[in-house]
Amino acid sequence: MPKPGTTTAPSPNKKKSANDGKRRTAPAPSGSSKSAVPASNGDALEIKDGRNSKTYTVPIADCAIRATDLKKIKTDDPNDSGLMSYDPAFLNTASCRSAITYIDGDRGILRYRGYPIEQLAEKATFLEVAWLLRHGELPNQQEYEQFVHDVTWHTYVHENFRKFLEGFRYDAHPMAMLNSGIAALASFYPTSRNIFDERERDISVIRLLAKTPTIAAFSYRHVKGMPFVYPDNRLSYVENFLSMINRMSESKYEANPIFVRALETLFILHADHEQNCSTSAVRGVGSSHVDPFSAMSAGVAALFGPLHGGANEQVLRMITEIGNVKNVPKFIESVKSGEGGRLMGFGHRVYKSYDPRAKIVKKLADEVFKVVGVDKDLEIALELERIALSDEYFTSRKLYPNVDFYTGLIYRSMGFPTDFFTVLFAIARMSGWLAQWEEMLLDKEQKISRPRQIYVGPTERPYTSKLTKK
Ligand code: CMC
Repeated sequence: MPKPGTTTAPSPNKKKSANDGKRRTAPAPSGSSKSAVPASNGDALEIKDGRNSKTYTVPIADCAIRATDLKKIKTDDPNDSGLMSYDPAFLNTASCRSAITYIDGDRGILRYRGYPIEQLAEKATFLEVAWLLRHGELPNQQEYEQFVHDVTWHTYVHENFRKFLEGFRYDAHPMAMLNSGIAALASFYPTSRNIFDERERDISVIRLLAKTPTIAAFSYRHVKGMPFVYPDNRLSYVENFLSMINRMSESKYEANPIFVRALETLFILHADHEQNCSTSAVRGVGSSHVDPFSAMSAGVAALFGPLHGGANEQVLRMITEIGNVKNVPKFIESVKSGEGGRLMGFGHRVYKSYDPRAKIVKKLADEVFKVVGVDKDLEIALELERIALSDEYFTSRKLYPNVDFYTGLIYRSMGFPTDFFTVLFAIARMSGWLAQWEEMLLDKEQKISRPRQIYVGPTERPYTSKLTKK
């Protein structure tokens, strides 16, 4: 297995959406007041309650009605507290107004602050994108240099982190270590709890961007039983990360430039993706006004799951299990019959066409595989994609490759172990979580996140113990 990011030698061997071209969301809510919410322009929903024939007018703004407007729809029963909307897993509920990321899932469009992902992936740096996500505009030269300087300056972690991470078992999953490490940072920076102090937010954002790669790399080295490598502040963000992963006795680590650019591009692609599971977790936990380190660790926890960031790891495990191109048709049949589980790396809640990130990743994979050579796992992946894209089961459900389908193959070809893939995703997504967290905090409409429920349990009943001994 090559060291991550170092190997250079080749190995042998529809319909248009309703808001076409328009923003679905309003401008940045940062610092906004309730009056910033656009009026409904007279658009309204007329509702007739079939229970009592009463009619209601509910304003529509931005293709949405406010769920709280449904509360006034009630029967004459004094116990009726009004109508609720029921939406398990938020299939059709907007939880916020956001100006950060725009997705059109039908047309396969992804933009950060209006900039197409394809242009950012090709031309920007990851830190430029991190700044853009938070501030809404690209940094000028001076802002960028100061930002790079600040992030570079804060890459070191307190020495106690060594002992903390050394306490983990030799085979600990690096996402468990990263999650705990990010949460532990809260104990080192107690003033970060002053979340409405802009300077405190600034320094917390810088610390989280700077220290996440360090904690990630330390987790990697711990599992490998290798000494921790301290940050080298002469290097760029990505090179420094690869140095902390790979460096042995050399005085200065030099990463393969193709791998550096590939990782930088993958970090940009993963930086934000609007209200996904982990971002919703960050916003939900952050809405209690906890410190940002605790809120971000919630994001890491959510990302760990196999249906979210953990999918890239599962793709590789699935390919390994398939083992050979000739086994692909049988595997696809087992997915369709429900016996073989899901085709990991396929399908998306929002994209009902090819994930635009997956297109870029596929191209990137071609470039990386030119360097390391094609292996049988890539052949299996290509065959899976080929068969699935022409199979009615997948096409009728609009299941296309998502970003995770090829990323795992790239990461592995760079030498990263499978269980480290989601950590790489987390390093990148930290930038999006931070931007979303701050947007949530400054949005005057937001309150502590607290969904309603429909109670389906027993009605009142008397306590009668079933214990025979107390
Ligand atoms: N393989 C086989 N069938 C699938 C798949 C799949 N990957 N994904 C969805 N389906 C089927 C599903 O069984 C259902 O069929 P039916 O209507 O007959 O019951 C239908 O498609 C709709 O699925 P769903 O579960 O209602 O869709 P969802 O929007 O709730 O799930 C998803 C989205 C990403 C969780 C799901 O597609 C999935 O489990 N994919 C595999 C895991 C994966 O690759 N996750 C990474 C997501 S992208 C990166 C990220 O955001 O973290």
